[in-house]
Amino acid sequence: MLDVKIEGATVIDGTGRPGARTDVGVRDEMIDAIGDLSRESAGTVLNASGRVLAPGFIDMHSHSDWRLWGNRRAESKIRQGVTTEVVGNCGFSPAPVATEFLDEMRAFALYVPRGMDFSWRSVGEYLRAFDRDGTALNVVQLVGHGTLRVAAMGFARRAPTSGELTTMQRLLAEAMQEGAWGLSTGLIYAPGSYSTTDEIVAVARSAARYRGFYASHIRGEGRTLLDAVREAIQVGREAAMPVQISHVKAAGRPHWGKVADALALIDAARAEGLDVMGDVYPYTASSTSLRTALPDWALEGGVAAMLKRLHDPGERQRMREDMERGGGYSIVERMGWENVMIAWCPKRKDAEGRRVSEIAEVRGLEPIEAVFELLRDADGVASMILFQLDERDLRRALAHPQLMIGSDGSALATTGDMSAGKPHPRSYGTFPRVLGHYARDERVLSLAEAVHKMTGLPARRLGVRDRGEIRVGAKADLVVFDARRVADQATYEDPHRYPVGIEQVLVNGRFVIKDGEHTGSLPGKVLQP
Ligand code: ZN
Ligand code: CU
Repeated sequence: MLDVKIEGATVIDGTGRPGARTDVGVRDEMIDAIGDLSRESAGTVLNASGRVLAPGFIDMHSHSDWRLWGNRRAESKIRQGVTTEVVGNCGFSPAPVATEFLDEMRAFALYVPRGMDFSWRSVGEYLRAFDRDGTALNVVQLVGHGTLRVAAMGFARRAPTSGELTTMQRLLAEAMQEGAWGLSTGLIYAPGSYSTTDEIVAVARSAARYRGFYASHIRGEGRTLLDAVREAIQVGREAAMPVQISHVKAAGRPHWGKVADALALIDAARAEGLDVMGDVYPYTASSTSLRTALPDWALEGGVAAMLKRLHDPGERQRMREDMERGGGYSIVERMGWENVMIAWCPKRKDAEGRRVSEIAEVRGLEPIEAVFELLRDADGVASMILFQLDERDLRRALAHPQLMIGSDGSALATTGDMSAGKPHPRSYGTFPRVLGHYARDERVLSLAEAVHKMTGLPARRLGVRDRGEIRVGAKADLVVFDARRVADQATYEDPHRYPVGIEQVLVNGRFVIKDGEHTGSLPGKVLQP
């Protein structure tokens, strides 16, 4: 007797092979049978003819560690068919932490939900604390290099002493023994940007020893894009580990077209025998913390020190000159402030959904001054959306065989605390947008390729053998969707909208989405490598 029998669906198994009509049976947490199951009885029988059955989607690049704590139902992700999220990306994870730098760490986090109390120190303690209350989907934790650096030396803008370097290595090695899957960097962000390649290689080796991989938000995505890709590949070569280039893009109009060159570097590295892959989200706008608009030295000493600088006219002048010269994130050089929208700013709600140029005009300030004012008013807690990417670059990345799908978003919800502001729609729409808009409507890739980039390919990157494919013996993470109807609904103006066409989602053999509705079930786990 099966627990669940899904009959008559077109099964796209995640390997990249086209779909075929068959039945799939689930018992306990596992896929137990595939084939003609008409004679098998089951506790729940689902007629899925005319629908696609695929492995649950793996979101290769997520920041949900900061949201899932207070959003166990993981609404905006599970409703896309995501059953596993890879968190701790872009150099920042909630653990490990050091008591000495706990305040710096907490101030740096953009969003800390109620109850997320930093009572842990190690990654193991954090994961156990997280796992206590259950979660709708599975979690794969990476360790942020920025987090390690803060734990070892705060927001010091210098090379680590040999003692501090040893601390980072030890903390990472411990984390790898306690369930982490690899190291992430965010090299445009302080404090990651304060580090040299040698430091990263030295730290990364601690993850390589435990067969972890290196995921990098690389040092530049505009003018310095190609050097930054080369640096990530160099880390993989020198530390002898797989490399995941996060959210591949070429930012800023002068740099459009360079994604092709970045992909060529990935191809060349692979031809050399290195295991280099990447991920991409299906939008032409990016999103990050508003603090990133400042030169990275503004964060030296942490957020409190940054706020002090913002109150000092002389320091503001220095920042301003640096920004106008193209220092820091160089938004001015790239696109202009009319292409920068404030997404979320709890202490300045009036700014949410508005372009910086518009906010500046209303306040009678120059755009840079308006940004300074916002960051000051908001204690540095604000995020922005940057309309700065090229559609052709995006299509090239989506079609590349070694690039998988990663939202770069978080698990949000259309109600309560999680529905604040105008966050990037990727948190709600990434996976349905690839399946609907880019695969079905625009034919940038086939449906089976799209599914592969959400399942089998990320499973290969992670080294997960029992997920990412529909196969007897694999874990029953499954999605049933209507390929004719599947579509994202979230927009930049109206982001808090769930997609349509994702009908059933099972995690570890249990329904979390049943007939389009959340069951409240929390069968997800913190996955161990
Ligand atoms: Zn990033
Ligand atoms: Cu990210």
